[in-house]
Amino acid sequence: MRVVVKKSGIGQVSGAVQVIGAVEGEQRPERLLPPSVARDRALVSLIQRSGFRGAANETTLLPKGAGWVLVVGLGKSKDLSLERVRQFAGTAARVVRARGWKQVVLPLLSDRTFGNADTVAQALTEGALLGLYRYDHLRKVPAHERHRRIDTILLAVERASDLAAARKGAAKGTVIAEAVSFSRDLITGPSNIVTPTYLANQARALARELRLKCQVLPFATLKRRGFGGIVGVAQGSVHPAQFIVLEYRPARATKTFAFCGKGITFDTGGISIKPSAKMELMKYDMAGAAAVLGIVKAAATLKLPVRIVGIIAATENMPSGSAQKPGDVLRTLSGKTVEVLNTDAEGRLVLADCLHYAKRFKPDAVVDLATLTGACVVALGSEAIGLMTKHEQLASRLNQAGQTTYERVWRLPLWDEYGPAMKSDIADLRNVTNTGEAGTITAAKFLEEFAEGLPWAHLDIAGTAWTEKDKPYIPKGAVGIGVRLLLSLMENWKS
Ligand code: BES
Ligand code: ZN
Ligand code: ZN
Repeated sequence: MRVVVKKSGIGQVSGAVQVIGAVEGEQRPERLLPPSVARDRALVSLIQRSGFRGAANETTLLPKGAGWVLVVGLGKSKDLSLERVRQFAGTAARVVRARGWKQVVLPLLSDRTFGNADTVAQALTEGALLGLYRYDHLRKVPAHERHRRIDTILLAVERASDLAAARKGAAKGTVIAEAVSFSRDLITGPSNIVTPTYLANQARALARELRLKCQVLPFATLKRRGFGGIVGVAQGSVHPAQFIVLEYRPARATKTFAFCGKGITFDTGGISIKPSAKMELMKYDMAGAAAVLGIVKAAATLKLPVRIVGIIAATENMPSGSAQKPGDVLRTLSGKTVEVLNTDAEGRLVLADCLHYAKRFKPDAVVDLATLTGACVVALGSEAIGLMTKHEQLASRLNQAGQTTYERVWRLPLWDEYGPAMKSDIADLRNVTNTGEAGTITAAKFLEEFAEGLPWAHLDIAGTAWTEKDKPYIPKGAVGIGVRLLLSLMENWKS
């Protein structure tokens, strides 16, 4: 798929469907975009008579001359934002593809409300590319679907003075959408393909392609060097665990970010086995790791002037004769011991070693991403990432990045009163409480023990990494959450 930016007015691209935007009014659209549409009186009256109001993502397809116009609602004027632009593009691109057209022509919604030409072009590109995402690696695509394939996304820019900025935005949007799609592919890939070794090989391939440093510690090394958290979880699996450190270090970097990803390629629960209903979804328990790889890929491609260390603990969580058992005590990399009272609370065990390992890089910020708790799904559902940190400035930066990208975070308290629930009688810590209260927070309190002294934030993405609902630019399935959020965090980091 190509993304092309061209100077062109409404209706000047022949043989294609032209998309226009409509701002919602009471009875009919209050405004059409780009503003030049207003000059086409026949079109305006056709839209007004169609009963179309302009509600967000409402669509209507109208004949115009020899071709078609697709009108897509942008919602009320008070709600206009870049998120509306992304949704607009995703909705439009999918309608156009469903109709079998090969090209979608999107107007640069050059309205100051949305931002500058570059950010609007970036949002349009991200929305269209991510909306068209499909996972076709493991099936023979039926002919009728194979032919429904868009090959060009054309951004039609009316003012020549906007061209350069729009091209820059479209290029950036393409890089970001490709990184998110890469992350989605890894998450959607089943656990018999996406094994810990597969993740390590993907990291190595990124390193070759983008000249990054990649170090993979194999299982034997983890045992020898005392990575007790990962080893405890991994010892029940026939697929050897991989501890992946992928580093992007440009010469002019002034800040260092460490991103830790939970990479459980399949979570059966281990000996504390999960019920079988919906267990297949536990292939997405490596969505944190997939996000970390996507972030490094995008940041290195965009040449962001920051150093990034991606730290991933990749392993399965399996029950077997060699698996850890409830009551076992592990000695983690930090030296702290953990009584494993539930083998299904494995994410925190592997992350304990990742967070401790992050200390050696003296990062300016450490963020971990993990599909950590079912309790987070219960508390926040699929719209908000659970954020836990004591670092006010990091919290507010993450919150800002969440607003910008619409990968929104919602903060839960990390008060010290929640801490004692994670103390064990025979080890330094236990990995689950005995009350079941505040499951998301107590998991974070456990992690906090291993992030001592670090400017650290924890993101629980259990509810947001996977969606059962089709959204305008997030098709049902893997979301690829976290990539856009943390790229935005780094981009807007002003010392
Ligand atoms: N991977 C799960 C959390 C999860 C649940 C992610 C649903 C996505 C959707 C995690 O390893 C887990 O099993 N957590 C347990 C913790 C409990 C034993 C304290 C949970 O949430 O039930
Ligand atoms: Zn688990
Ligand atoms: Zn898990």
